[in-house]
Amino acid sequence: MNTLRVALDGPAGAGKSTVAKRVAQALGLTYVDTGAMYRAVTWKALHDQLDLSDAAGLTQLANQVQIDFKPTAAGQDVFLDGQDITEDIRTRDVTSQVSAVSAVAGVRLAMVEQQRNIAARTGVVMDGRDIGTVVLPNAEVKIWLTASVEERATRRYQELIDKGQEVDFEQLKLDIQRRDEYDSGREHSPMKMAEDAVLVDSTGLNIDQVIEEILHICRQIVAQK
Ligand code: DC
Repeated sequence: MNTLRVALDGPAGAGKSTVAKRVAQALGLTYVDTGAMYRAVTWKALHDQLDLSDAAGLTQLANQVQIDFKPTAAGQDVFLDGQDITEDIRTRDVTSQVSAVSAVAGVRLAMVEQQRNIAARTGVVMDGRDIGTVVLPNAEVKIWLTASVEERATRRYQELIDKGQEVDFEQLKLDIQRRDEYDSGREHSPMKMAEDAVLVDSTGLNIDQVIEEILHICRQIVAQK
């Protein structure tokens, strides 16, 4: 089981990271949050005040930075060149710019290479948008995790409220829709369900039910091998 590669793709706010984390724990695999990698590059670009329309500059940056994950009890911390940026990459600023940065072909090439290197060393649950289609097209398990926009926005709203942040639900929903459109409409590796992925619609399911369903799919596939 611990050389298994699980590709977990789907739109923004479908609960991929929570699910991926817990599935990885249950199966003894390494969790890789590829969205956090694109967010880290975006954070650094904003921090260095790079021009976000400068594809060459962003590509250079993506090839220079060292992104590391350190597992914690709650999940994992994200480091860029040794600096803990776990919280910084979740700001609204980064979230609103990350789609544009992740649409740059050179940025994607740099990140995909790092993602494949990790999966070559260890079994993984890798969450993202293009894992089943581009990063790990031979992954043993491919899941497409989705939920209605309404439900995804409601979950994200609750998450932010619980953190004590002020949020406008309609704006949040619009942001999610916009990011989905951008991510699935981009030229390079658009967000897309792999033809051989299993669709899991989590609308109306709680997190434990989703995890149970995905673990069931993983175990079935392993048993068939
Ligand atoms: O999963 P997330 O919301 O943290 O991802 C942030 C953005 O990064 C998302 O809007 C699109 C991009 N992304 C991507 O293009 N490819 C991936 N494999 C993961 C994320």
